[in-house]
Amino acid sequence: MEKLLEFRGIGKYFPGVKALDDVSFDLYPGEVHVIVGENGAGKSTLMKVLSGAYTADAGEILLEGKPITRNSPRISEELGIRMIYQELNLVPELSIASNVFLGHELKKGFFVDKRAQEAKADELLRDMGIQVDSRTLVKNLGVGTQQMVEIAKALSKNAKIIVFDEPTSSLTDSEIRELFRIIELLKQRGVGMFYISHRLEELFEIGSRVTVMRDGKHILTEDIKNMDMTRVIEGIAGRKIENLYPHTRKEAGEALLEIRGLSGERFEDVSMTVHAGEIVGVSGLVGAGRTETMRAVFGIDSYRTGEVFVDGKKVPKNSPEKAGRMGMCLLPEDRKVEGLALPLSIRENSVISSLKLLNPGGIVKRAQEKTKVQEYMDRLSIAASTMEKLARFLSGGTQQKVVIAKWLMSKSRVFIFDEPTRGIDVGAKSSIYELMDELVLQGAAILMVSSDLQEILGMSDRIYVMSGGSVVGEIDGSEVEQSMVLNLAFSNV
Ligand SMILES: Nc1ncnc2c1ncn2[C@@H]1O[C@H](COP(=O)(O)OP(=O)(O)OP(=O)(O)O)[C@@H](O)[C@H]1O
Ligand SMILES: [Mg+2]
Repeated sequence: MEKLLEFRGIGKYFPGVKALDDVSFDLYPGEVHVIVGENGAGKSTLMKVLSGAYTADAGEILLEGKPITRNSPRISEELGIRMIYQELNLVPELSIASNVFLGHELKKGFFVDKRAQEAKADELLRDMGIQVDSRTLVKNLGVGTQQMVEIAKALSKNAKIIVFDEPTSSLTDSEIRELFRIIELLKQRGVGMFYISHRLEELFEIGSRVTVMRDGKHILTEDIKNMDMTRVIEGIAGRKIENLYPHTRKEAGEALLEIRGLSGERFEDVSMTVHAGEIVGVSGLVGAGRTETMRAVFGIDSYRTGEVFVDGKKVPKNSPEKAGRMGMCLLPEDRKVEGLALPLSIRENSVISSLKLLNPGGIVKRAQEKTKVQEYMDRLSIAASTMEKLARFLSGGTQQKVVIAKWLMSKSRVFIFDEPTRGIDVGAKSSIYELMDELVLQGAAILMVSSDLQEILGMSDRIYVMSGGSVVGEIDGSEVEQSMVLNLAFSNV
């Protein structure tokens, strides 16, 4: 079979980083080529070179055997190369049909032929097996359906190659199933796909081949059928990870966090207790009201009735600052928006929450601060040449690591983690679990919302299951089985 695409010796440099170093591999029609690697390995950068958003400093790209001599986002689109990012690029106020044909409108004379666009968009959607009217405004669609619109848009321009960069990180389980069904369809039509993900189980589900990247270099490309999870993990982390979940059970102490009968817009009568020395998981499907509850507990959003206590003291409503001073912290789900100051450096971001701890009496102990930041950068393998690098130049997952470092360094005792390892590479995941284990050993209490069932089962002493805004079950972590959690999670839907 003829190659659809080939990277030959691609190099890309940013100040102080070799983001891509002599990268070569290829793509066949009808193949799902999964690309995995640590945060900052260069995956997104390579795809941005392909899309023409970045210009390579070395090497060439061949499309169907012919070198792409000039590239730009417009040119790559015309060549049939389409990107589907996690952050979608649709216009919310426009209909599905208008979005699909944005930039290449169907015209009747001088005017946009809305009817024709709607008919064609309906046909595309029907073709993909999606039941939604193309006149619906995009703002009224869920994230999953919006992604389908992006794919429909790609197909409307006869895409030969579609790139998915972490497409599933904010999708519900059923939306993921839907996406995989469509990917299967595209495969049969001969579309070649690059698929980037940190959810390694996905690779075995939809992948044809896998490429591992590390430090900007190509490490291996292999048929999925010749790979197993252990080899994939070793390839990514560059080392063996014997036990991903290092959690050991500790003696639970006094109740540090108590949530009593909390009711608000998306949750009803939620009560939870977390003791010192405990990691308590909160499981449930996306949309079960978990994030909303946690935001209210920490005071970002309001609630109608109920109370929250830290260490027996009542936490005032609506004040994250006060909650923070009482020893509580929240690692938010949407970290780019809520957790990180993009114009500040890694160092500045990391120490924001722990300034008082490191600088008693307000004196800046820069040397001490730097040692601490360096320690966390090493432990989480934060990919950056220096701690002075600005957050906005970091890869997506590396930004998340900085936010996590910031909270792990704070002097909090009650930690609420909302999807702590989403988008994080497998090596750093195991370090984050180790740090969580150390925290509870020192007497902290951790409440962890996660959609990753393995993580919940591997790390929790106890598990609350939420569904439809309520707690529908509480399970002891030592006797739990996957099916129990799943049965409860689906109970109210
Ligand atoms: N515009 C930029 N300026 C400076 N450095 C950059 C820029 N874009 C990316 N980098 C650096 O290039 C390297 C590769 O980043 P890239 O975003 O490709 O990683 P990634 O493999 O996609 O990681 P993740 O899994 O976290 O998304 C990182 O060290 C990153 O900090
Ligand atoms: Mg990336």
